[in-house]
Amino acid sequence: MSVFAYRYGVLHAESVSLAAVAREVGTPFYLYSTAALEAHYSAYAGAFAGQDAGVCYALKANSNLAVIRTFARLGAGGDVVSVGEMKRALAAGIPAERIVFSGVGKTREEMRAALEAGIHQLNVESIPELEALSEVADSMGVVAPVAFRVNPDVDAKTHAKIATGKKENKFGIDYDHAREVYNRAAALPGIKPVGIAVHIGSQLTDLAPFRAAYERVAALLHQLRADGHDIQRLDLGGGLGITYKSERPPDLADYAAMVRSITGNLGCRITLEPGRSLVGNAGILVSKVIYVKQGLHRRFAIVDAAMNDLIRPSLYEAYHGIVPVAEPEAGAVEQPYDVVGPVCESGDTFAVQRPLPPLRDDDLVAFLSAGAYGAVMSSSYNTRPLVPEVLVNGERFSVIRPRPTVEEMLAAERMPDWL
Ligand code: LLP
Repeated sequence: MSVFAYRYGVLHAESVSLAAVAREVGTPFYLYSTAALEAHYSAYAGAFAGQDAGVCYALKANSNLAVIRTFARLGAGGDVVSVGEMKRALAAGIPAERIVFSGVGKTREEMRAALEAGIHQLNVESIPELEALSEVADSMGVVAPVAFRVNPDVDAKTHAKIATGKKENKFGIDYDHAREVYNRAAALPGIKPVGIAVHIGSQLTDLAPFRAAYERVAALLHQLRADGHDIQRLDLGGGLGITYKSERPPDLADYAAMVRSITGNLGCRITLEPGRSLVGNAGILVSKVIYVKQGLHRRFAIVDAAMNDLIRPSLYEAYHGIVPVAEPEAGAVEQPYDVVGPVCESGDTFAVQRPLPPLRDDDLVAFLSAGAYGAVMSSSYNTRPLVPEVLVNGERFSVIRPRPTVEEMLAAERMPDWL
């Protein structure tokens, strides 16, 4: 059952009325459900119970401190891709020894900060990065625990902008050169190769590409061990896709069984880095219809959220469900709307010819499945303040990131002395 449901004619998150939140916080706002976050995390961790596996939440999906802490309290680790995310993970209560640092372009400063914090593992993606890490670690007199992210050349069958495991992508080291790279790493000061990492893309709704990638990783593991490397960790990258519209992602139980069938007797500690599947369907974006405008050929619902607040439709042609906050009357006849924001670009479009119950000015609507890659990818384009974030827990709600005022935004800028 979804935590977002109509009660007394109004869409609620758990026991909180979205109309009530809108009155207090104003629109637009992001809202997340604690019950959903916890349920998604527990389902993930539970599916892997009995395997030597740990969940490192991919902070990039939603890095609000309160969201991270919700997972940290359940025992989650964190997958971070910048020193900023690392500081968020630590500040939210994820212990350093449960943090993995991924990303194709870590700077020396970031490496130093990660080694100072004593994190679990750095996932290295190239020889120049390896050499830099060796220098940094050696100069600090420490040894960096390293997994190499290998590029298995597997088609993830997802949107091209979020597929990462083909050899033409910028990610990882070439599968065919991996043995050389491990040998080189083993000879470098300050480096201990401890694992293999792989991540082929996001929003995967089929197990087959995962399986193909993991089989390649397992084969590499045998070769590396034969070469004398003491590899004890496998990082299997991001999690399953989610349902935005009619996608049917695999069951977690089937995914976990597939992982066990490939890695069960390898004697490795498994790391999982799910992001979207933990937060995506735990969050919504609530917005208000400013005007309903009847064009020559189309009816537009112009809402107060825009592409800068939720960029996924513009960037990936992504589908997000849209529902009115006031429960439609029984028998209400749907009409097609183009749902658009107020930003001065035609790409500022959330949905084209979407059948919706009749909308009027000032109606509230909720964009569904917006908890992942929503608030984190927002900007203040058109000097639109970043949208606030709200966390619901049962009957309570709390603003976990307030909306900045325009005055605060302006005050953050500086005039050079010649102006
Ligand atoms: N690990 C690594 C190394 C990653 O690059 C990613 C996502 C994840 C884990 C988490 O993957 P997930 O469980 O969320 O699928 N902005 C895009 C998604 C970009 C994903 C980037 N990497 C979107 O809105 O669809």
